[in-house]
Amino acid sequence: MFSKSAAQVAEPSDQPPGPRGLPYFGCLNSLLRDPMLFWSSVANRYGGIARVPLKGRQVFLVSDPDLLYELLVTKRRRYRKNVRYQAAIDTFGEGLLLSEGESWNRQRLITQPAFRNDYIRSQVPAMAAITTSFLDEWASAASNGSLVRDVEVDFLKLTQTLAGHYLMGPGFADIDERFHAAAIAIKNNWPIPPRSLLALYKPKGKQRQTQFDAAIRAADACIFEYLEAQKKTDFEDAGVLSLLVHKSREQGDEYDAKSLRDQFMSLFFAGHETSAMSLAWAHYLLCRHGDARENLKQEVDTVLGTGRITGADVDRLEFTECVLNETLRMYSPIHSISRVALEDDTLGGYAIPAGAMIYISLYAIHRLPQIWPNPDEFDPERFLPERSAGRPRFAFIPFAAGHRNCIGASMAVVELKLVIALIAQRFVLDLERGHKVRTSAETTMRPRYGMRMTIRDANA
Ligand code: HEM
Repeated sequence: MFSKSAAQVAEPSDQPPGPRGLPYFGCLNSLLRDPMLFWSSVANRYGGIARVPLKGRQVFLVSDPDLLYELLVTKRRRYRKNVRYQAAIDTFGEGLLLSEGESWNRQRLITQPAFRNDYIRSQVPAMAAITTSFLDEWASAASNGSLVRDVEVDFLKLTQTLAGHYLMGPGFADIDERFHAAAIAIKNNWPIPPRSLLALYKPKGKQRQTQFDAAIRAADACIFEYLEAQKKTDFEDAGVLSLLVHKSREQGDEYDAKSLRDQFMSLFFAGHETSAMSLAWAHYLLCRHGDARENLKQEVDTVLGTGRITGADVDRLEFTECVLNETLRMYSPIHSISRVALEDDTLGGYAIPAGAMIYISLYAIHRLPQIWPNPDEFDPERFLPERSAGRPRFAFIPFAAGHRNCIGASMAVVELKLVIALIAQRFVLDLERGHKVRTSAETTMRPRYGMRMTIRDANA
């Protein structure tokens, strides 16, 4: 789409266009200051493949949907996921998120059935019960009028309980509060992304690391205690972990406690924060767009009435899905991903040397004006089938794409539609007067100052 045309195929040694930046540091300072805006401005200015100098290295930004298909699908064996930092390795271990090659392949095959439609559907009643009891707490706190909450915090708690139950089964309730405290401590002590060159070279505080290590130990203690308890019933009712134990046993190489721990931590952390941020941003957008909020409420009332939600109901919430997709487009919880070239390659007619780092900014791709007219405008109906026809498949990739795409994508969509619908059935959320909302590109894209909202009874 934006790469060189066949008539102008470059010599593979040509460099794609891109900014020059400062000597040695290149564009590092602009990148650190606001990564999402930086990548977006590079994509808009230089096209589908661009070269960006960073600390003496050339990195490549790929934003063209056809080139993304090449990178993530046809040439996937020539690239691996980028190596992550120690905090990620300590948290996720050798689980699905960070593993590579044969080990990843086996884990993915074993885990896949836990994210198939029939399994997800079987979990809808439990998702609904957990969400309803969470909303009952809002209702009783709001019984004398309205309630003000930081919904980012509340949605983190809700999505942790939902993820914990899905992954570990009802037994998660026994460790929910302790594990929640440990997970929040891991998040709060996660390395802060530096926002300037000065911050990049500042010595790292020891206290934060000590607290991070302690939080990992606390999380591990909960998990190993839970696994010990489940052994007594041979993992009879332990959610996804039951499937993992039995499937790996069938293959003659049963997961040990450390493997189950790594798998749980990878799925839990990959799954809950992304979902919580989607809920926070969806409600931010809805409160600023009264028409869409009204349409959504009408759909929910028509589909659900006042009854319980089923898997079939979730499928029928078409406008709710458009709202969710538009939220994921504008506020993609995972704002960027990266890959490393394992061998010399060419993309869009340009040489990519072995070892080169490739950036994929979901934020930038989802706001390309040639694909998304008025990209900064919230317009859920752009996801209606008639308006989606002809849009390149890889122009909308909130769950990434190709073999390392999000294993939890379908489950996330069901869970998020269900929570949005159950909230709309009972409540109206508005931003607290004067509350400032800014994006912050951290592990996920989160609201920098939280998301303080007033919560009112929708039917009062
Ligand atoms: C709105 C919610 C979610 C979003 C936006 C999201 C997004 C993503 C993205 C972009 C990736 C690719 C990362 C990369 O290539 O570097 C990914 C991978 C992954 N996600 Fe999600 N995710 C969500 C929910 C979930 C849920 C609910 C789970 C599980 C319970 C989950 C588990 C994973 C795992 C395990 C991977 C790694 C898969 C692999 O490498 O084989 N995610 N996700």
